[in-house]
Amino acid sequence: MKLFLLLSFSALMLLEAYKFTDETDKKSLLEFKAQVSEGRRSVLSSWNNSSPLCNWTGVTCGRKHKRVTGLDIGGLQLGGVISPSIGNLSFLISLNLENNSFGGTIPQEVGNLFRLQHLFMGFNYLEGTIPAGLYNCSRLLTIDLFSNFIGQNVGSEVGSLTELVVLDLGLNKLNGKLPTSLGNLTSLRELGLGDNNIEGGIPDDMARLAQMKWFLWEPEAYFW
Ligand SMILES: *[C@@H]1O[C@H](CO)[C@@H](O)[C@H](O)[C@H]1NC(C)=O
Ligand SMILES: *[C@@H]1O[C@H](CO)[C@@H](O)[C@H](O)[C@H]1NC(C)=O
Ligand SMILES: *[C@@H]1O[C@H](CO)[C@@H](O)[C@H](O)[C@H]1NC(C)=O
Ligand SMILES: *[C@@H]1O[C@H](CO)[C@@H](O)[C@H](O)[C@H]1NC(C)=O
Ligand SMILES: *[C@@H]1O[C@H](CO)[C@@H](O)[C@H](O)[C@H]1NC(C)=O
Ligand SMILES: *[C@@H]1O[C@H](CO)[C@@H](O)[C@H](O)[C@H]1NC(C)=O
Repeated sequence: MKLFLLLSFSALMLLEAYKFTDETDKKSLLEFKAQVSEGRRSVLSSWNNSSPLCNWTGVTCGRKHKRVTGLDIGGLQLGGVISPSIGNLSFLISLNLENNSFGGTIPQEVGNLFRLQHLFMGFNYLEGTIPAGLYNCSRLLTIDLFSNFIGQNVGSEVGSLTELVVLDLGLNKLNGKLPTSLGNLTSLRELGLGDNNIEGGIPDDMARLAQMKWFLWEPEAYFW
């Protein structure tokens, strides 16, 4: 009897967790939409409570669990800021906000997206820094922040993103020295750092990056 109770209790908890999390995705995206500038919010008109979450513009869901795995709203001329609620899309694998007019900072909460593999935020007006939490997303394959106003330095923690294939930070306001831990990114094929204010040279450790196909460094490009 005790075991039965325990089992049914766990099942209930699971069910509750499931329902809760599905609603979380919806809430996160509605919160996200509320931070999109009013003039262009109509582009996301399908993001409403009468339309199923997985039918929303730019939203891809997992086939079985129906959680949001992809958000692809690049090139829609969206402005405003990126809501921290994005960090609650805990099943997100791919996030594409590229080529919009988002300003403000990249919320720290993206660091909660531990399943994230692709991050495209290039061609926006983002400022602030690369959030430290991003270096915790250890499954990342792509980070594309090209053409924004991201400042400060590249954290040495970047060296823990050992799966990274593409890292494009070109045309930003980065400064400081490059961390030697970049030499840890042995899967890297594309590295863009041009048009920043980075000091010093290229760390010697980067000679280890055997997969590299192109490397952009002010003022010239190197092809391996
Ligand atoms: C909700 O989204 C559906 C699907 O795009 C659309 O047909 C409907 O007009 C929307 N409802 C509101 C209130 O915007
Ligand atoms: C959701 O999308 C599916 C597939 O595109 C479509 O068949 C269905 O009618 C849509 N549901 C609603 C309520 O819009
Ligand atoms: C950005 O999006 C606009 C349409 O919104 C398109 O015309 C333009 O080619 C895109 N630019 C890039 C660099 O993707
Ligand atoms: C994320 O979800 C939690 C739990 O539902 C909630 O308390 C929190 O406000 C959400 N955060 C954001 C930024 O929406
Ligand atoms: C990164 O993950 C570690 C270990 O889970 C945690 O202690 C740390 O607070 C995280 N850092 C950020 C900036 O989220
Ligand atoms: C480099 O990678 C190794 C494992 O591959 C890891 O233990 C180490 O912490 C990384 N170094 C940095 C600076 O991230």
